[in-house]
Amino acid sequence: MTTDTVKMTVLVTGATGRVGRRVVESAEAAGLTVRPASRAGAVRFDWADRSTWADALRGADAAHLAHLPDVGAPGAAEAVGAFARLAVELGVRRLTLLSARGEPQAHATEQAVRDSGAGWTVVRAAWFAQNFSEGPLLDGMRGGELVFPGGEVLEPFIDTRDIADVVVAALTGGDRFAGRTLDLTGPRLLSFREAVAEVSGAAGRDIAYVPVPARDYGAALREFGVPAAEAEFLVELFETNLDGRNAVLSEGVREALGREPRDFSDYVKECAGAGIWSA
Ligand SMILES: NC(=O)c1ccc[n+]([C@@H]2O[C@H](COP(=O)([O-])OP(=O)(O)OC[C@H]3O[C@@H](n4cnc5c(N)ncnc54)[C@H](OP(=O)(O)O)[C@@H]3O)[C@@H](O)[C@H]2O)c1
Repeated sequence: MTTDTVKMTVLVTGATGRVGRRVVESAEAAGLTVRPASRAGAVRFDWADRSTWADALRGADAAHLAHLPDVGAPGAAEAVGAFARLAVELGVRRLTLLSARGEPQAHATEQAVRDSGAGWTVVRAAWFAQNFSEGPLLDGMRGGELVFPGGEVLEPFIDTRDIADVVVAALTGGDRFAGRTLDLTGPRLLSFREAVAEVSGAAGRDIAYVPVPARDYGAALREFGVPAAEAEFLVELFETNLDGRNAVLSEGVREALGREPRDFSDYVKECAGAGIWSA
């Protein structure tokens, strides 16, 4: 890390999310000045409201981009491209994009960041371990039954703390990770059934895994009030990236951080110890 990077001010979007809040923690621990941004965050920022963009960016040297609701959602490439170009106009030199492995829907968004003129790093992450403890799957886990279209596919779940550490390594690593697309996985392949069984064992209570077809899952989402277009996007996403294409480990965390990625079991023990999955 150089004197320049220590003085770096970084805008972190999605700053209260599963990855973003850990990027904030990791960047602060590295001595960077952090601007945590989201719709209700310290710095107000909304992908759907362009009037919030310039103020969020002004004064930042670098920015970490997480597009919501998804990196490959309809309109993501246009929004992220426009935001990245504005960032460059306002003097932001370095961008990281949180992307997803095995998600062709995200490729145009990644390309928009590569074309922005900034020094860029795309961080393509596997399924987050923290999906089981934060966000929409938590209710099912607490309720004792995870209904999900993950079949028996193997997934290299990654701890979001490792993603955050890689993002900060990319932002502070000078040219080392500029112009790179980093593929990040955890150290082990697990099926959703095995992952839920690990949680169940550590939490000391029965939690069942019930695989369902993606189309049935989409229909259930619509019944819970998810708009039809969003549910359809998720169905297509799950049919794509849960078809086995991601059932392979990568070296990205080891290369960027010089250490092993955190194991799913360690994450599970910590969350169970904190009572996250108590009924
Ligand atoms: N889940 C996975 O396994 C996985 C894997 C690879 C990649 N990804 C990608 O990771 C990203 C999601 O990251 P995450 O899971 O850390 O997020 P998250 O936990 O769902 O949190 C969402 C964050 O974004 C903010 N946000 C929501 N809507 C927003 C909007 N319209 N404009 C600005 N900020 C908004 C939220 O705060 P406010 O409510 O205050 O706005 C919050 O800080 C997506 O791009 C997804 O494609 C996910």
